[in-house]
Amino acid sequence: MFAVYLGCLGLLLLYYLYQKTYSYWSSRGVPFDKPFLIFGSFFDVAARKKHMFDVIREIYDKFDTPYVGIYILNQPTLMVRSPELLKKILVKDFDKFVDRKVALNESVDPIAANALFNAKDQMWRGLRAKISPVFSSGKMKLMLPLMKECAEDLTAHLEQRAGETLEVRNVTKKYAVDIISSCAFGVNSYCLKDDNSEIMKFATKLVDLKSFVRSFSIFSYFFIPKFVDIFRLTLLDKVASDYLTQMFKSTIAERQKKNIMSTSLVGVVDDILGSCVDCQTTSKWLLKALAFFSAGNDTISMTISFTLYELALNPTIQDRLRQEVKETFAKHGDFSYDAIYEMKYLDMVVNETLRKYPLTSFLNRKSVSKYTFEETGFTLDKDVAILVPVAGLHFDPEYFPDPEKYNPERFTEENKTKIPPYTFLPFGEGPRNCIGQRFGLLVTKLALAYTIKDFTFERTATTAVPLGLDPGSLFLENKTGIHMKVVKVQQ
Ligand code: HEM
Repeated sequence: MFAVYLGCLGLLLLYYLYQKTYSYWSSRGVPFDKPFLIFGSFFDVAARKKHMFDVIREIYDKFDTPYVGIYILNQPTLMVRSPELLKKILVKDFDKFVDRKVALNESVDPIAANALFNAKDQMWRGLRAKISPVFSSGKMKLMLPLMKECAEDLTAHLEQRAGETLEVRNVTKKYAVDIISSCAFGVNSYCLKDDNSEIMKFATKLVDLKSFVRSFSIFSYFFIPKFVDIFRLTLLDKVASDYLTQMFKSTIAERQKKNIMSTSLVGVVDDILGSCVDCQTTSKWLLKALAFFSAGNDTISMTISFTLYELALNPTIQDRLRQEVKETFAKHGDFSYDAIYEMKYLDMVVNETLRKYPLTSFLNRKSVSKYTFEETGFTLDKDVAILVPVAGLHFDPEYFPDPEKYNPERFTEENKTKIPPYTFLPFGEGPRNCIGQRFGLLVTKLALAYTIKDFTFERTATTAVPLGLDPGSLFLENKTGIHMKVVKVQQ
């Protein structure tokens, strides 16, 4: 009998705890997405049934309120839908939302703890100020020759495989790793030239989004930081990061031996590592360098791949882009910095790719103190996670009519002005936006200019239409890759 009482008491206690936890939003009068048992709103994501991109869109579409309370497991998170409120969070009242709600544990994962993306308040401010000049347009121009070498390797690679049906993500990833290794670390990784490149192998392993352990770690970093402490999870794969750290270390040692601190080994440029070794201790910089390596290569390669995918499905857009690229090349005789920026249609195409395929389906912040939304009078507690539903905003027909359609015309000079601010956020917004935006756009456009000039990309029976997003991946990735035929253009 006593056991039955104890059991009932236990059940009552559990019910009480459940009610207490999952009434966080209702007790504050905030409209909320009903949690599924103890899993909250992201059960399908955790169970790998749906991609986060789709789940965020579904919740965004279910409501029309300025914000929605959701639970990620037991963690209350505020999804902010209103562009006006986003302006406050991301820009106007940035100081109250300076940090991201991500795990930070120096002893478990020194690389993540030292990355700009994860750094908190004062440390972040110091780091951002030091790193920003590295991404100036002056520095980009200096790096352009290195980037062009990689773009030439890309065309040579495609030349060899012309006529074949390729999985393009694999090829563009090689290009991105070559560029980042070369510009950032002065290391020639030769991924495009050498199918067995060690750097490529470890760059893939570093953030292998297909492995369960990696995707569990990444999910925990963003949504259940406690798991990082409990299971001692690292954001990047340990074996791969050890290998790459060792490789960069030997690069630095060689530089020091030759007394070339601020020029990259491959020759010309005052690269990221070069300019940074002077301002921090080497080991700390290695950790930051590695974080850049991982931030850069997937974002760039996926943006190029999704663009090529849409161009293969939309030959008219592809032809128009090729015409602009050829005319610009004929005028400049080269893809100089100015030539790349002169191509308006290329810019429209890339923007439309970033709208339809925002690689990170959401942005995240947290309230560093209590904060009252003047518009509604609602006071947000300290330390609550904020989720910016980029996937929802980019597909909201009010901001982007006929959102499933790939339509670069949305981004003509005239139409751009009609897009309400804070509804197009591929690189985030405000002081904590993407620091690599200029770099990412330049190398993406360069790859597209070089390839579109000389090749056509064609849909085949193996091209997945529509794409089926891989639910295990944090980024947008098609389950079966992105396949298309590449054909040399007759000059
Ligand atoms: C097409 C390419 C890229 C896209 C779409 C992209 C997207 C983003 C987004 C959405 C954020 C979050 C911004 C926010 O929270 O407001 C971000 C942050 C960041 N990105 Fe990128 N990114 C790209 C390329 C790169 C590259 C090439 C690098 C480095 C070489 C880079 C380094 C970073 C870093 C360090 C942050 C954190 C900034 C901070 O917290 O201060 N990204 N990126």
